[in-house]
Amino acid sequence: MTLKTSAPGNVFFFGEHSVVYERPAILAAVNKRTYSEIKKVNGNHISVKSEGYGEIDSNLSSLKEKKYKSYEDYTSQMDPIRDLIGILLEKFNLASGFELEIASEIPHSSGGMSSSTAVLASVLKAISELFQWEVPEEDYFELLYPLQVKIHGGSASGSEITSSSMGGYNEFVLDKSGEETEFNFENLGKQSYNLVIGDSRIEAKTGETVPYVKNGWENHSESYEKAFDEIEQIVKKGKEALIKGKAKEVGQLMDQNQELLRTLGVSHPKLEKMIKEARQSGAYGAKLSGGGKGGIMISLVPEGKENQVAKSIEEAGGKAFTTEVGVAGAKLEG
Ligand code: MEV
Repeated sequence: MTLKTSAPGNVFFFGEHSVVYERPAILAAVNKRTYSEIKKVNGNHISVKSEGYGEIDSNLSSLKEKKYKSYEDYTSQMDPIRDLIGILLEKFNLASGFELEIASEIPHSSGGMSSSTAVLASVLKAISELFQWEVPEEDYFELLYPLQVKIHGGSASGSEITSSSMGGYNEFVLDKSGEETEFNFENLGKQSYNLVIGDSRIEAKTGETVPYVKNGWENHSESYEKAFDEIEQIVKKGKEALIKGKAKEVGQLMDQNQELLRTLGVSHPKLEKMIKEARQSGAYGAKLSGGGKGGIMISLVPEGKENQVAKSIEEAGGKAFTTEVGVAGAKLEG
């Protein structure tokens, strides 16, 4: 029997990067998904094919033995998937091999929509469903956060796990003050915001942008902390406005967040151009989303203005698309 699962990518309305420094962020799952098809095989063989990422052709014992201690051990795009399977083998004592095929709608070449988190969440869902293990969504943090840290070059917030596992619109805050890292999230309910997303087609790895900001923070901690505090204020106001359906205000706050992301050095001239065009053609507001330095931008648009804004983003050299926002998290398909 073959099972199919999926998990969504996401966008940040507010708070990427500062969320790594324990400030709040607001993010939403979007209907660009990663799909995993899985079936058991006789024996202990494990094969994984991931469109655009690569392949794994291995077995239970070698995957269990292989350990990835730090981000430096991730040398191929398949390593996080190998790492996850190894962790699951250890935790659940898996006894049978499987064949897994992964396909994604998320533009992972340029980044910004958490494609790797979506891959891991859909794989985790697929394997746990196949072997009928109870893995509640809250446990996705415990299992995926260490991988997230390695993917992002040594530090991460874990915020994207909220979208990929639970879906919807969420506020997220990381709390590392206690003995155990805590992942606090609040579902912000059903919302109906129209986004036009622009893919800059400039490859940017979050594994490089997160360490870039960390380096800046280590060298200029005062100004970075100040910027993070300002973003926190924007997130607080943004949450109020978003819940109340005040799209215009949400857009203005997105613009303010973009200013601060630019001062952190994670924007890019092409993103700036796409953002400017989107605003001029009628968007309420626009900003980069995710790690930045390339990847995607999002624009919040009044209903009926989607095509106009999409056209302006394309004229600025981006690839524009619309998608449903606030969709379901990791799930069984069919
Ligand atoms: C990347 O999608 C979001 C960042 O805030 C990193 C993280 O939260 O781990 C840049």
